Amino acid sequence: MSKDEQKTGWKEYIWNSRTREFLGRTASSWGLILLFYLVFYIFLAGLFTLTMYVMLQTLDDHKPTWQDRLTTPGMVIRPKADEYYEIVYDIGKTETWDMYAQALDKFMAPYNNSVQVEKNNACTPDQNFVQEDSPDVKNNPKRSCQFNRTILEDCSGIGDRYYGYQDGKPCIIIKLNRVIGMIPGVNGEAPFVTCGPKREDSDKIGEMVYFPPNGTFNLMYYPYYGKKAQVNYSQPLVAVKFLNITTNQDVNIECKINANNIPLGTERDKWAGRVSFKLRINTIA
Ligand SMILES: *[C@@H]1O[C@H](CO)[C@@H](O)[C@H](O)[C@H]1NC(C)=O
Ligand SMILES: *[C@@H]1O[C@H](CO)[C@@H](O)[C@H](O)[C@H]1NC(C)=O
Ligand SMILES: *[C@@H]1O[C@H](CO)[C@@H](O)[C@H](O)[C@H]1NC(C)=O
Ligand SMILES: *[C@@H]1O[C@H](CO)[C@@H](O)[C@H](O)[C@H]1NC(C)=O
Ligand SMILES: *[C@@H]1O[C@H](CO)[C@@H](O)[C@H](O)[C@H]1NC(C)=O
Repeated sequence: MSKDEQKTGWKEYIWNSRTREFLGRTASSWGLILLFYLVFYIFLAGLFTLTMYVMLQTLDDHKPTWQDRLTTPGMVIRPKADEYYEIVYDIGKTETWDMYAQALDKFMAPYNNSVQVEKNNACTPDQNFVQEDSPDVKNNPKRSCQFNRTILEDCSGIGDRYYGYQDGKPCIIIKLNRVIGMIPGVNGEAPFVTCGPKREDSDKIGEMVYFPPNGTFNLMYYPYYGKKAQVNYSQPLVAVKFLNITTNQDVNIECKINANNIPLGTERDKWAGRVSFKLRINTIA
C-alpha cells in the first residue's frame, strides 16, 4: 500500500462519502446507538431515584433509624480551655482567668432568661415533659422547657460576672450529653451530679456548693426527642462552685451523674456518666 492509499483509507474510514458512513456507521446506526444509551441512562437514573425515594420514605426525619441502646451519656464541663480538662490560673493575673469567664459568658448566652422565655415553655417541674406522637399524627415540632440562666445563681455570671474565678472560688458548669429518648431517674427521683476528689487529693477539694440545689437535672428536661423534633431544646446544666479548694497544688476532681437507672462506666465506655478534670489555682506569683 502506498502512503497515499493509506491516507485515503483513513479518510474514508472517518467519512466515507460513497456509503455516507461516519466512523464506519451510517447516521441512522449512530442515531440508534445514541438513542439506546439515552434510554439506558434514563432508565438507570429512574431506578436510582425510585430506590432513594423508597429508602427515604422509610426514614423518620425526626428520629434516627439506628440508635443503639446507649443508656449512659457522657458528661462535659465548661469552661473548656483546651482539649484537656485543665483549669489552671493565677488569681493575681487577670489575663490567666479572664478567658474562662469569657468562655462561660459565651456558653451561657443562650440561657439568658429573655432568650429562654422567648423560645421555650415554662414546664411543670419534677415531671417528664412527654410529647409522644400518636400512631398516625406526628406531634412535631415539639416544645422544650425553659432553663433560665438565673437557676445557676452565684454561677450564673449575672451577680458575679467572673464566676468566682477572681477570688479563687471558681464555678464549673456540667452538662450531660443528649441522648434521644433517655429518661434518667425513675420514681420521680431526678438525676443529680456529685463531684469529689480523685485518689490522693481527698483533703484538697474543700467545700462545694451546687446549683440548682443538690445538683439535679430536673425531670422536665427529659425525654429529649432529637434536634429536628425539638429545635429549641436547651440542655439542663449543673454548676459546682469550689468554695475552699487548696491553692498552689493540682487538685484532680471527678464529677459523676447519679440516677437510679443510669449505670456508670460500662464496659464499652468507662467514662460514661462521669467527667474528670484538674483544677489548679495559683496565688503566689
Ligand atoms: C445575655 O445577658 C447578658 C447580661 O445579662 C448580656 O450581656 C448578653 O448580651 C445577653 N446575651 C444574649 C444572647 O442575649
Ligand atoms: C423556637 O424558638 C423560636 C423563637 O426563637 C420560636 O418562634 C419557635 O416557635 C420555637 N419553636 C419551638 C418548636 O419551640
Ligand atoms: C425564667 O425567667 C423569666 C423572667 O426572668 C420568668 O418569667 C420565667 O418564669 C422563668 N422560667 C422559669 C421556668 O423559671
Ligand atoms: C436535697 O437533698 C436533700 C436530701 O437528699 C433533700 O432533703 C432536699 O429536699 C433536697 N433539696 C432540693 C432542693 O431538692
Ligand atoms: C478551708 O480549708 C482549710 C484546709 O484546706 C481549712 O483549714 C479551713 O478551715 C477551711 N475553711 C473553711 C471556711 O471551711
